[in-house]
Amino acid sequence: MDKKYEKAKEKLKQYKQEHLLIWYDKLIEQKREELLNQILKIDFEQIEELYKQTKRKQDFKDSAIEPISYMDKEKLSKEERTAYEEDGIRVIKEGKYAVVTMAGGQGTRLGHNGPKGTFELEVGEKAPIPLFTILAQTILKARKKYNAVIPWYIMTSKENNYKTTNFFERHNYFGMGQENVTFFIQNELPMVDVKGKILVDEKGLVKLAADGHGGIFEAMRNDGVIADMKRRGIEWVFIAGVDNVLAKMVDPVLTGMAIKNKCFAAGKSVVKNNPKERVGVFCKKDNRPSVIEYTEITDEMAEATDEAGELLYGESHILCNLFHIKAIHEIAKNKLPYHSAFKKAKYIDKNGVIVVPEVPNAYKFESFLFDAFEKLDNMAIMRVKREEEFAPVKNAEGVDSPETASKLYMDFMKHHK
Ligand code: UTP
Repeated sequence: MDKKYEKAKEKLKQYKQEHLLIWYDKLIEQKREELLNQILKIDFEQIEELYKQTKRKQDFKDSAIEPISYMDKEKLSKEERTAYEEDGIRVIKEGKYAVVTMAGGQGTRLGHNGPKGTFELEVGEKAPIPLFTILAQTILKARKKYNAVIPWYIMTSKENNYKTTNFFERHNYFGMGQENVTFFIQNELPMVDVKGKILVDEKGLVKLAADGHGGIFEAMRNDGVIADMKRRGIEWVFIAGVDNVLAKMVDPVLTGMAIKNKCFAAGKSVVKNNPKERVGVFCKKDNRPSVIEYTEITDEMAEATDEAGELLYGESHILCNLFHIKAIHEIAKNKLPYHSAFKKAKYIDKNGVIVVPEVPNAYKFESFLFDAFEKLDNMAIMRVKREEEFAPVKNAEGVDSPETASKLYMDFMKHHK
């Protein structure tokens, strides 16, 4: 232990982060060990670099941005739809289709105490239903419809893994069989204050936070998920967040569209509510699929339309994407870039006072799943109807809140029993 302590101390001195050990003596043996392990695992050079990046003005690479072509699910002819569907159904029935739910986020905007997936949504007369249960029902329905096992993988974070797995255990894995529900934990990175010092959490340990939904590929590789999928013969993997209660996670049309168009990935979009809506949209960047943020797009581009009057950059990315296992394997070979977000983070100060900030005080570093699109040659984009496939629970109230999601969910259920 002493050796480890000395090593950690040395490392902290080198990077001027000595304060991480100030509560060391007050910790119990087991926590001391945990703290030392945390410190030895941190790539301080990476953290220094990420902190420096927060001070640099972000200059967008001079990339060639163009609209990306998409197909509107509604406008497919009966023949096209059937052809896609047949290919997709074959994949599902042959047991080559899996679903991944990303549930490692902190859900800070919603402010629910516990994993976001355990948040209970009001659904009218019946008792409120946890988001995980809603997603499970969607998968169970598809299993029945296609008479196939659809393995479900759930990405958690260190912070919420126990509560998540415990929730599934208590719900008996929704009758899917424990062997068909697999959890994996994503990576974490330390949070730093405005001076670049790593925060200490309330327990006296390093303040860590999940490294963003883009962390999924690395986590799938490191936690053996890709290998497990290959073992099971999985070819197509649908990846979505935990908070879209209308996510159509088992979609043969999307799958068939990817196959017929020889794409290794496909993404669903909903058309922007208006040109100014603050969402990222699918596009082509340097001739590769990408998502451009609303902050990166000019008003002129945002308002541009085609001959049919459709927005050229109107396909919002809704975090509902399908990947071929080979694409996941390739993407996971390299790290995605990290972005920083300035957030409120509870921590313990030098005097031992627990600080609960009312305004943002720390940087969190995250990678985004859609940064992976640029690694692909092409992607099939399918526009779907918002009222049928997109009801996110993000904020405690107002837009994309339990109230709006609940209404969308109930309206949908009325017509799709
Ligand atoms: P959001 O970006 O909306 O984040 O995640 P969030 O954690 O749910 O909420 P805020 O921003 O803290 O309020 C979209 C999806 O990606 C998952 C989330 O769980 C959600 O399903 N996610 C996000 C992860 O799995 N890991 C992360 O590190 C971040």
